[in-house]
Amino acid sequence: MKVLIAGGAGYIGSHCVKIMTEQGYDVIVVDNLSTGHREAVKEKLYVGDIRNQAFLDELFQKEKIEAVIHFCAKSLVGVSMTEPLEYFDNNVSGTMVLLQAMAKANVKKIVFSSSAAVYGDHEEMPITEEYLTNPTNPYGETKLMMEKMMKWAEIAHGFKYVSLRYFNVAGAYTDGSIGEDHQPETHLIPIVLQTALGKRDHITVYGNDYNTADGTCVRDYIHVIDLIDAHIRALNYLSSGNISEIFNLGSEDGYSVLEIIEAARAVTGINIKQEIGPRRAGDPAKLIASSEKIGRVLGWKPKFGIKEIIRDAWSFHKKHPEGY
Ligand code: UFG
Repeated sequence: MKVLIAGGAGYIGSHCVKIMTEQGYDVIVVDNLSTGHREAVKEKLYVGDIRNQAFLDELFQKEKIEAVIHFCAKSLVGVSMTEPLEYFDNNVSGTMVLLQAMAKANVKKIVFSSSAAVYGDHEEMPITEEYLTNPTNPYGETKLMMEKMMKWAEIAHGFKYVSLRYFNVAGAYTDGSIGEDHQPETHLIPIVLQTALGKRDHITVYGNDYNTADGTCVRDYIHVIDLIDAHIRALNYLSSGNISEIFNLGSEDGYSVLEIIEAARAVTGINIKQEIGPRRAGDPAKLIASSEKIGRVLGWKPKFGIKEIIRDAWSFHKKHPEGY
């Protein structure tokens, strides 16, 4: 099956390209390299923007694509608060043009990245797919709009989609050849590991006065390899003629910021220095997924725990101390 991986040079997309290629899928990649890395992709890469209709039309004519996995998105919650229109342009317009090109080319299957950010704040954990969606930032709003666009495109044009609402993705390909390299980095695990490498003096813990066991925020971390396994299952699910679905993608296990730092000390053997700072605006205290639905429908369950997530991320960081 020939699959177009949009955003395939990014952190998550590049893992998808590598793993699907190993499993014998014929993949081609589109990426505008705005945040992606050419070095992360060995396969056929078309450099271009999914908001460019002519570029996509030509691509769909040239390649006999059967399905699309769509990772293109800007994904920094904080920046989305100050630059919302950039987020609507990139994430929402990009998806709209991609769907238009797919409709024209009669390619109707798509698996795409949504986010736990669609839920907003909830007290009761774990979060199921039935929870109210009420994003508290433009980034989450764009992901919700993408889901809604898919729903109406299904009704009008017969699209079939799987939306995967990611919780906290981390880790790297086990040999450390590819991994997470954002400029600037904002995510917890890479920052903790950059501190272990001596690239930063300390990690600042954003608040220790939350209503959680140790006062720091709790998140549900999922290994990028497990995450890609879910995408491949979703693709096969659609190829077998199943209905469109939305799934949470998390492990049902929560770790606090302090627990992550402690786990990183254990994995690296380095005494990573921490300092307590003020809260970061917009951070919910706790986000834990229910993964009952994806387990039941796609037979997915995570193989890796937090130790393996940090171990593999560490292996990437040691090999690429300056990034790619
Ligand atoms: N944190 C720190 N110090 C840091 C960086 C992060 O204490 O230097 C804390 C954050 O405050 C948060 C936790 O570590 O409590 C995790 O933060 P990340 O930035 O790694 O991840 P987020 O939970 O903020 O974001 C993730 C995804 C987003 C998605 C969001 C949904 O990365 O794409 O979940 O809420 F939108």
